[in-house]
Amino acid sequence: MYKAAESRYQEEGGMVFERCGRSGVLLPRVSLGFWHNFGSVDPYERSREIVRYAFDHGITHMDLANNYGPVYGSAEETFGRLMDDDLRPYRDELFIATKAGYDMWPGPYGNWGSRKYLMASLDQSLRRMHLDYVDLFYSHRYDPATPLEETLQALVDIVRAGKALYVGISRWPLEATKFAYDYLRQRDVPLLIYQGRLNMLDREPQETGIMDFCADHGVGFISFSPLAQGLLTDRYLNGIPQDSRMAKEKFLKHEMLTPELLTQLRLWNDEAQAQGRSLAEYALRWILEQRGVTSVLVGASSTGQLDKNLRAVR
Ligand SMILES: NC(=O)c1ccc[n+]([C@@H]2O[C@H](COP(=O)([O-])OP(=O)(O)OC[C@H]3O[C@@H](n4cnc5c(N)ncnc54)[C@H](OP(=O)(O)O)[C@@H]3O)[C@@H](O)[C@H]2O)c1
Repeated sequence: MYKAAESRYQEEGGMVFERCGRSGVLLPRVSLGFWHNFGSVDPYERSREIVRYAFDHGITHMDLANNYGPVYGSAEETFGRLMDDDLRPYRDELFIATKAGYDMWPGPYGNWGSRKYLMASLDQSLRRMHLDYVDLFYSHRYDPATPLEETLQALVDIVRAGKALYVGISRWPLEATKFAYDYLRQRDVPLLIYQGRLNMLDREPQETGIMDFCADHGVGFISFSPLAQGLLTDRYLNGIPQDSRMAKEKFLKHEMLTPELLTQLRLWNDEAQAQGRSLAEYALRWILEQRGVTSVLVGASSTGQLDKNLRAVR
Protein backbone atom coordinates (compact mmCIF):
# COMPACT_ATOMS: atom_id res chain seq x y z
CA MET A 1 0.00 0.00 0.00
CA TYR A 2 1.45 3.35 -1.10
CA LYS A 3 1.93 6.03 1.49
CA ALA A 4 3.00 9.40 0.09
CA ALA A 5 6.21 10.89 1.45
CA GLU A 6 5.51 13.00 4.54
CA SER A 7 8.06 15.51 3.27
CA ARG A 8 6.31 16.17 -0.06
CA TYR A 9 5.53 19.80 0.70
CA GLN A 10 8.32 20.51 3.17
CA GLU A 11 11.42 19.20 1.50
CA GLU A 12 14.51 21.36 1.85
CA GLY A 13 14.75 23.13 -1.51
CA GLY A 14 11.57 21.29 -2.55
CA MET A 15 8.64 22.16 -4.78
CA VAL A 16 7.67 25.76 -5.32
CA PHE A 17 4.06 26.64 -6.12
CA GLU A 18 2.96 29.50 -8.32
CA ARG A 19 -0.45 31.13 -8.58
CA CYS A 20 -2.12 30.30 -11.88
CA GLY A 21 -3.01 33.68 -13.37
CA ARG A 22 -5.69 35.53 -11.43
CA SER A 23 -7.22 32.47 -9.78
CA GLY A 24 -7.24 30.62 -6.50
CA VAL A 25 -5.19 27.76 -7.91
CA LEU A 26 -1.53 27.20 -7.10
CA LEU A 27 0.36 24.92 -9.47
CA PRO A 28 3.75 23.30 -8.92
CA ARG A 29 6.41 24.96 -11.04
CA VAL A 30 7.21 21.51 -12.45
CA SER A 31 4.21 19.44 -13.57
CA LEU A 32 4.08 15.96 -15.09
CA GLY A 33 2.83 15.15 -18.60
CA PHE A 34 1.42 11.78 -19.67
CA TRP A 35 1.86 12.05 -23.45
CA HIS A 36 4.59 9.37 -23.49
CA ASN A 37 5.68 6.68 -21.01
CA PHE A 38 2.21 5.91 -19.58
CA GLY A 39 0.55 4.01 -22.41
CA SER A 40 -0.41 0.35 -22.64
CA VAL A 41 2.94 -0.24 -24.42
CA ASP A 42 4.84 0.92 -21.33
CA PRO A 43 5.50 -1.23 -18.26
CA TYR A 44 2.92 -0.30 -15.62
CA GLU A 45 5.37 -0.57 -12.73
CA ARG A 46 7.72 1.98 -14.33
CA SER A 47 4.86 4.41 -14.95
CA ARG A 48 3.75 3.89 -11.38
CA GLU A 49 7.23 4.54 -10.02
CA ILE A 50 7.46 7.83 -11.96
CA VAL A 51 4.08 9.05 -10.70
CA ARG A 52 4.84 8.08 -7.10
CA TYR A 53 8.19 9.85 -7.34
CA ALA A 54 6.49 12.92 -8.76
CA PHE A 55 3.83 13.11 -6.06
CA ASP A 56 6.36 12.38 -3.32
CA HIS A 57 8.25 15.48 -4.46
CA GLY A 58 5.34 17.89 -4.65
CA ILE A 59 4.23 17.44 -8.28
CA THR A 60 0.51 17.78 -7.72
CA HIS A 61 -0.40 18.62 -11.31
CA MET A 62 -0.76 15.78 -13.83
CA ASP A 63 -1.57 16.52 -17.46
CA LEU A 64 -3.37 13.99 -19.65
CA ALA A 65 -5.39 13.93 -22.87
CA ASN A 66 -7.92 11.55 -24.34
CA ASN A 67 -5.54 10.20 -26.97
CA TYR A 68 -2.31 9.85 -24.97
CA GLY A 69 -0.88 6.35 -25.11
CA PRO A 70 -0.32 4.56 -27.33
CA VAL A 71 -2.93 3.15 -27.73
CA TYR A 72 -5.33 6.08 -27.59
CA GLY A 73 -6.93 6.30 -24.16
CA SER A 74 -4.40 4.06 -22.48
CA ALA A 75 -2.53 6.80 -20.57
CA GLU A 76 -5.86 7.68 -18.96
CA GLU A 77 -6.44 3.99 -18.23
CA THR A 78 -3.02 3.80 -16.58
CA PHE A 79 -3.98 6.85 -14.54
CA GLY A 80 -7.26 5.17 -13.54
CA ARG A 81 -5.33 2.15 -12.34
CA LEU A 82 -3.01 4.44 -10.37
CA MET A 83 -6.03 6.10 -8.77
CA ASP A 84 -7.23 2.69 -7.60
CA ASP A 85 -3.80 1.40 -6.54
CA ASP A 86 -2.17 4.49 -5.00
CA LEU A 87 -3.71 7.90 -5.44
CA ARG A 88 -7.36 7.71 -4.32
CA PRO A 89 -6.61 8.88 -0.74
CA TYR A 90 -4.84 11.89 -2.23
CA ARG A 91 -7.49 12.98 -4.75
CA ASP A 92 -7.94 16.39 -3.17
CA GLU A 93 -4.19 17.02 -3.30
CA LEU A 94 -4.11 16.46 -7.04
CA PHE A 95 -4.86 18.83 -9.90
CA ILE A 96 -5.69 16.58 -12.83
CA ALA A 97 -6.13 17.79 -16.39
CA THR A 98 -7.34 16.15 -19.55
CA LYS A 99 -8.11 17.40 -23.05
CA ALA A 100 -9.97 16.73 -26.27
CA GLY A 101 -9.26 18.16 -29.70
CA TYR A 102 -7.22 15.66 -31.70
CA ASP A 103 -8.11 12.45 -33.44
CA MET A 104 -9.67 10.03 -30.95
CA TRP A 105 -12.28 7.73 -32.49
CA PRO A 106 -13.42 7.01 -36.06
CA GLY A 107 -16.15 8.91 -37.84
CA PRO A 108 -17.09 12.58 -37.90
CA TYR A 109 -17.58 13.05 -34.11
CA GLY A 110 -14.20 11.94 -32.72
CA ASN A 111 -12.01 14.95 -33.50
CA TRP A 112 -11.71 18.78 -33.42
CA GLY A 113 -14.01 21.08 -31.44
CA SER A 114 -17.71 20.25 -31.71
CA ARG A 115 -19.90 20.11 -28.63
CA LYS A 116 -20.74 16.53 -29.60
CA TYR A 117 -17.07 15.50 -29.49
CA LEU A 118 -16.01 17.40 -26.35
CA MET A 119 -18.94 16.20 -24.26
CA ALA A 120 -18.61 12.55 -25.25
CA SER A 121 -14.83 12.61 -24.95
CA LEU A 122 -14.81 13.95 -21.42
CA ASP A 123 -17.34 11.32 -20.33
CA GLN A 124 -15.06 8.65 -21.77
CA SER A 125 -12.00 10.19 -20.09
CA LEU A 126 -13.69 10.21 -16.69
CA ARG A 127 -14.58 6.53 -17.08
CA ARG A 128 -11.02 5.60 -18.04
CA MET A 129 -9.47 7.65 -15.22
CA HIS A 130 -11.95 6.38 -12.60
CA LEU A 131 -12.80 9.96 -11.66
CA ASP A 132 -16.05 11.86 -11.06
CA TYR A 133 -14.55 15.12 -12.29
CA VAL A 134 -11.28 16.54 -13.57
CA ASP A 135 -9.79 19.69 -12.18
CA LEU A 136 -9.06 21.10 -15.61
CA PHE A 137 -10.46 20.37 -19.05
CA TYR A 138 -8.86 21.76 -22.19
CA SER A 139 -9.82 22.33 -25.75
CA HIS A 140 -6.65 20.72 -27.11
CA ARG A 141 -6.58 22.76 -30.31
CA TYR A 142 -8.30 25.51 -32.21
CA ASP A 143 -10.87 24.27 -34.73
CA PRO A 144 -11.25 26.72 -37.62
CA ALA A 145 -14.40 24.98 -38.89
CA THR A 146 -16.49 24.96 -35.70
CA PRO A 147 -17.95 28.22 -34.38
CA LEU A 148 -15.88 29.25 -31.38
CA GLU A 149 -19.10 29.84 -29.45
CA GLU A 150 -19.97 26.15 -29.79
CA THR A 151 -16.64 24.92 -28.44
CA LEU A 152 -16.60 27.48 -25.65
CA GLN A 153 -20.21 26.91 -24.62
CA ALA A 154 -19.41 23.21 -24.33
CA LEU A 155 -16.59 24.14 -21.91
CA VAL A 156 -18.98 26.33 -19.91
CA ASP A 157 -21.59 23.57 -19.74
CA ILE A 158 -18.98 21.00 -18.71
CA VAL A 159 -18.11 23.18 -15.72
CA ARG A 160 -21.79 23.75 -14.93
CA ALA A 161 -22.34 19.98 -15.03
CA GLY A 162 -19.58 19.53 -12.43
CA LYS A 163 -17.40 17.44 -14.73
CA ALA A 164 -14.52 19.92 -14.65
CA LEU A 165 -13.67 22.66 -12.17
CA TYR A 166 -11.72 24.88 -14.56
CA VAL A 167 -11.16 25.17 -18.30
CA GLY A 168 -8.19 25.91 -20.50
CA ILE A 169 -7.19 26.10 -24.13
CA SER A 170 -4.12 24.81 -25.90
CA ARG A 171 -2.52 26.04 -29.09
CA TRP A 172 -5.25 28.54 -29.94
CA PRO A 173 -4.15 31.54 -32.02
CA LEU A 174 -4.12 34.97 -30.40
CA GLU A 175 -7.37 36.37 -31.82
CA ALA A 176 -9.30 33.22 -30.90
CA THR A 177 -7.70 33.29 -27.45
CA LYS A 178 -8.95 36.85 -26.93
CA PHE A 179 -12.43 35.75 -28.02
CA ALA A 180 -12.31 32.77 -25.64
CA TYR A 181 -11.19 34.95 -22.77
CA ASP A 182 -14.13 37.34 -23.25
CA TYR A 183 -16.72 34.64 -23.93
CA LEU A 184 -15.79 32.63 -20.87
CA ARG A 185 -15.46 35.62 -18.55
CA GLN A 186 -18.94 36.83 -19.50
CA ARG A 187 -20.27 33.45 -18.39
CA ASP A 188 -18.37 33.38 -15.09
CA VAL A 189 -16.19 30.48 -16.17
CA PRO A 190 -12.86 32.28 -16.45
CA LEU A 191 -10.13 30.97 -18.69
CA LEU A 192 -7.73 29.47 -16.15
CA ILE A 193 -4.75 28.63 -18.31
CA TYR A 194 -3.23 28.52 -21.78
CA GLN A 195 -1.03 25.55 -22.72
CA GLY A 196 1.59 26.31 -25.36
CA ARG A 197 5.02 25.18 -26.50
CA LEU A 198 7.68 27.45 -25.10
CA ASN A 199 11.30 26.36 -24.81
CA MET A 200 14.74 27.66 -25.70
CA LEU A 201 14.27 26.38 -29.26
CA ASP A 202 10.70 27.54 -29.80
CA ARG A 203 9.49 30.90 -28.57
CA GLU A 204 6.30 31.10 -30.60
CA PRO A 205 3.91 31.96 -27.74
CA GLN A 206 6.12 34.93 -26.91
CA GLU A 207 6.49 36.01 -30.52
CA THR A 208 2.77 35.87 -31.27
CA GLY A 209 1.82 37.88 -28.19
CA ILE A 210 -0.05 35.00 -26.54
CA MET A 211 2.07 35.13 -23.41
CA ASP A 212 1.75 38.87 -22.98
CA PHE A 213 -1.99 38.58 -23.44
CA CYS A 214 -2.19 35.88 -20.77
CA ALA A 215 0.04 37.77 -18.35
CA ASP A 216 -1.91 41.01 -18.85
CA HIS A 217 -5.29 39.32 -18.37
CA GLY A 218 -4.62 37.02 -15.44
CA VAL A 219 -4.55 33.79 -17.45
CA GLY A 220 -1.92 31.22 -16.41
CA PHE A 221 0.54 29.81 -18.93
CA ILE A 222 1.99 26.31 -18.87
CA SER A 223 4.77 25.25 -21.23
CA PHE A 224 4.53 21.84 -22.89
CA SER A 225 7.58 20.01 -24.31
CA PRO A 226 9.82 22.35 -22.30
CA LEU A 227 12.84 20.19 -23.11
CA ALA A 228 11.90 20.01 -26.82
CA GLN A 229 11.11 16.31 -26.29
CA GLY A 230 14.58 15.66 -24.87
CA LEU A 231 16.71 17.72 -27.29
CA LEU A 232 17.39 20.27 -24.54
CA THR A 233 19.06 17.66 -22.32
CA ASP A 234 22.29 15.70 -22.55
CA ARG A 235 20.39 12.84 -24.26
CA TYR A 236 21.57 13.53 -27.83
CA LEU A 237 24.90 15.28 -27.30
CA ASN A 238 26.87 12.16 -28.21
CA GLY A 239 24.62 10.23 -30.59
CA ILE A 240 21.11 8.80 -30.47
CA PRO A 241 20.61 6.32 -27.61
CA GLN A 242 18.60 3.23 -28.53
CA ASP A 243 16.07 3.74 -25.76
CA SER A 244 15.45 7.42 -26.60
CA ARG A 245 12.30 9.00 -28.00
CA MET A 246 14.16 9.85 -31.19
CA ALA A 247 15.15 6.22 -31.74
CA LYS A 248 11.77 4.75 -30.80
CA GLU A 249 9.05 7.18 -31.86
CA LYS A 250 7.78 9.14 -34.80
CA PHE A 251 7.35 12.44 -32.95
CA LEU A 252 11.01 13.43 -32.66
CA LYS A 253 12.62 13.03 -36.05
CA HIS A 254 16.31 12.29 -36.70
CA GLU A 255 16.43 15.18 -39.20
CA MET A 256 15.91 17.63 -36.36
CA LEU A 257 19.33 16.86 -34.97
CA THR A 258 21.29 18.99 -37.45
CA PRO A 259 25.00 19.80 -36.97
CA GLU A 260 23.98 23.45 -36.32
CA LEU A 261 21.55 22.40 -33.59
CA LEU A 262 24.15 20.13 -31.99
CA THR A 263 26.64 23.00 -31.92
CA GLN A 264 24.03 25.19 -30.21
CA LEU A 265 23.11 22.46 -27.72
CA ARG A 266 26.78 21.89 -26.83
CA LEU A 267 27.22 25.63 -26.29
CA TRP A 268 24.24 25.74 -23.93
CA ASN A 269 25.50 22.59 -22.24
CA ASP A 270 28.85 24.28 -21.57
CA GLU A 271 27.09 27.34 -20.16
CA ALA A 272 24.95 25.08 -17.96
CA GLN A 273 27.97 23.16 -16.69
CA ALA A 274 29.81 26.38 -15.93
CA GLN A 275 26.91 27.14 -13.56
CA GLY A 276 27.05 23.64 -12.10
CA ARG A 277 23.77 22.64 -13.76
CA SER A 278 22.60 20.05 -16.28
CA LEU A 279 21.37 21.24 -19.66
CA ALA A 280 17.83 20.09 -18.73
CA GLU A 281 17.87 22.14 -15.56
CA TYR A 282 19.27 25.14 -17.43
CA ALA A 283 16.57 24.88 -20.12
CA LEU A 284 13.74 24.59 -17.57
CA ARG A 285 15.05 27.49 -15.50
CA TRP A 286 15.10 29.64 -18.63
CA ILE A 287 11.38 29.00 -19.15
CA LEU A 288 10.47 29.54 -15.53
CA GLU A 289 12.09 32.98 -15.66
CA GLN A 290 9.94 34.16 -18.58
CA ARG A 291 7.11 36.59 -17.87
CA GLY A 292 3.78 34.94 -17.14
CA VAL A 293 4.94 31.31 -16.92
CA THR A 294 3.10 29.36 -14.24
CA SER A 295 4.65 25.91 -14.72
CA VAL A 296 6.62 23.65 -17.05
CA LEU A 297 5.04 20.38 -18.12
CA VAL A 298 7.84 17.85 -18.34
CA GLY A 299 7.85 14.30 -19.62
CA ALA A 300 10.12 11.65 -18.13
CA SER A 301 10.92 8.04 -18.93
CA SER A 302 12.61 7.45 -15.55
CA THR A 303 12.66 8.79 -12.01
CA GLY A 304 16.28 9.79 -12.61
CA GLN A 305 15.21 12.19 -15.36
CA LEU A 306 12.45 13.57 -13.19
CA ASP A 307 14.89 14.10 -10.36
CA LYS A 308 17.17 16.11 -12.65
CA ASN A 309 14.23 18.16 -13.90
CA LEU A 310 13.05 18.89 -10.38
CA ARG A 311 16.38 20.55 -9.68
CA ALA A 312 15.18 23.42 -11.87
CA VAL A 313 13.14 24.69 -8.90
CA ARG A 314 15.84 24.10 -6.30
N1 LIG B 1 -1.03 20.68 -25.64
C1 LIG B 1 -0.37 19.99 -26.53
O1 LIG B 1 -0.67 20.02 -27.72
C2 LIG B 1 0.79 19.15 -26.07
C3 LIG B 1 1.72 18.66 -27.01
C4 LIG B 1 2.82 17.93 -26.52
C5 LIG B 1 2.94 17.69 -25.16
N2 LIG B 1 2.00 18.15 -24.29
C6 LIG B 1 2.12 17.91 -22.83
O2 LIG B 1 3.44 18.22 -22.40
C7 LIG B 1 4.00 17.08 -21.74
C8 LIG B 1 5.47 17.04 -21.91
O3 LIG B 1 5.82 16.90 -23.28
P1 LIG B 1 7.15 16.17 -23.68
O4 LIG B 1 7.13 14.75 -23.19
O5 LIG B 1 7.41 16.44 -25.11
O6 LIG B 1 8.19 17.02 -22.73
P2 LIG B 1 9.74 17.23 -22.65
O7 LIG B 1 9.98 17.42 -21.19
O8 LIG B 1 10.17 18.29 -23.58
O9 LIG B 1 10.39 15.85 -23.15
C9 LIG B 1 10.30 14.71 -22.36
C10 LIG B 1 11.28 13.65 -22.83
O10 LIG B 1 12.61 14.13 -22.82
C11 LIG B 1 13.49 13.16 -22.26
N3 LIG B 1 13.96 13.70 -20.97
C12 LIG B 1 13.21 14.34 -20.01
N4 LIG B 1 14.00 14.73 -18.99
C13 LIG B 1 15.25 14.36 -19.29
C14 LIG B 1 16.50 14.50 -18.62
N5 LIG B 1 16.59 15.11 -17.44
N6 LIG B 1 17.60 13.99 -19.23
C15 LIG B 1 17.53 13.37 -20.43
N7 LIG B 1 16.37 13.20 -21.12
C16 LIG B 1 15.24 13.69 -20.55
C17 LIG B 1 12.66 11.89 -22.12
O11 LIG B 1 12.69 11.20 -23.35
P3 LIG B 1 13.31 9.73 -23.57
O12 LIG B 1 12.15 8.90 -23.94
O13 LIG B 1 14.27 9.89 -24.68
O14 LIG B 1 13.95 9.29 -22.28
C18 LIG B 1 11.28 12.46 -21.90
O15 LIG B 1 10.25 11.55 -22.19
C19 LIG B 1 3.26 15.91 -22.37
O16 LIG B 1 3.35 14.74 -21.59
C20 LIG B 1 1.87 16.46 -22.45
O17 LIG B 1 1.25 16.37 -21.17
C21 LIG B 1 0.94 18.88 -24.73
